[in-house]
Amino acid sequence: VIIAETVAEAEAAIDDMFGGAFGGAGAEVVIEEFMQGEEASFFVLCDGTDVLPIGTAQDHKRVGEGDTGPNTGGMGAYSPAPVMSDAVIAKAMNEIIKPTMAEMANRGTPFQGILFAGLMIENGQPRLVEYNVRFGDPECQVLMMRLGGQAFDLLHACAEGRLAEARVNWADDHALTVVLAAKGYPGSYAKGTVIQGLDGLPEDSFHMIFHAGTSEKDGQITATGGRVLNATARGATLQEARDKAYAMVDQVNWPDGFCRRDIGWRAL
Ligand code: GLY
Repeated sequence: VIIAETVAEAEAAIDDMFGGAFGGAGAEVVIEEFMQGEEASFFVLCDGTDVLPIGTAQDHKRVGEGDTGPNTGGMGAYSPAPVMSDAVIAKAMNEIIKPTMAEMANRGTPFQGILFAGLMIENGQPRLVEYNVRFGDPECQVLMMRLGGQAFDLLHACAEGRLAEARVNWADDHALTVVLAAKGYPGSYAKGTVIQGLDGLPEDSFHMIFHAGTSEKDGQITATGGRVLNATARGATLQEARDKAYAMVDQVNWPDGFCRRDIGWRAL
């Protein structure tokens, strides 16, 4: 990968590469356009024939507030993604998702399962950055909060090839999740530190602490990973969901953990 400040610098590096400076590693050169815009995650279920959108989200990949510092798996997320308007969703379906699914079926390898399209949206036009065949983390947490129990019916319909008759019943709501991570993440961090304050937290269709990297030892919850807990809440507005999520975060007593305090800042 060549990242250069000027075109001249990039050209000089490419000259070196074609000149053999990188040996075998430089035998093939891929030049990619730098995509500008706002990134969003779009989730669809596919049963090999039919495709059903099940939600949009945006995550915060940088460890630091204001989206600064090293990349992580995701320090928080919210759903829906404001940039994914009905028009953008329709374009993504008609220009990206459906043609991909149709071509896979044509090739005799129909795709069945969850498809996570990472999109870049600029001036109302979505472009595909990548496909993942899994839910996102922490996007999954906000999607599950919004879908509730119907998630099971949708996955069941997907597995049995019945998506043509499946519908998502959307509430006009918002969900937001805050990741609590071990201090030091995404670098090295301590394991086995004790987390307190979880017992009194609400657990209902508006509030949920998802455990991502914990275990129970001698009656105590301890941290076993980098990203450890997801304080997730649902509300009538994104602000309400955010306030509820941070109210849960503030009840957690974990001196060895940290979180970003600005999840959702762009959308808000
Ligand atoms: N949060 C990004 C991902 O799951 O790939």
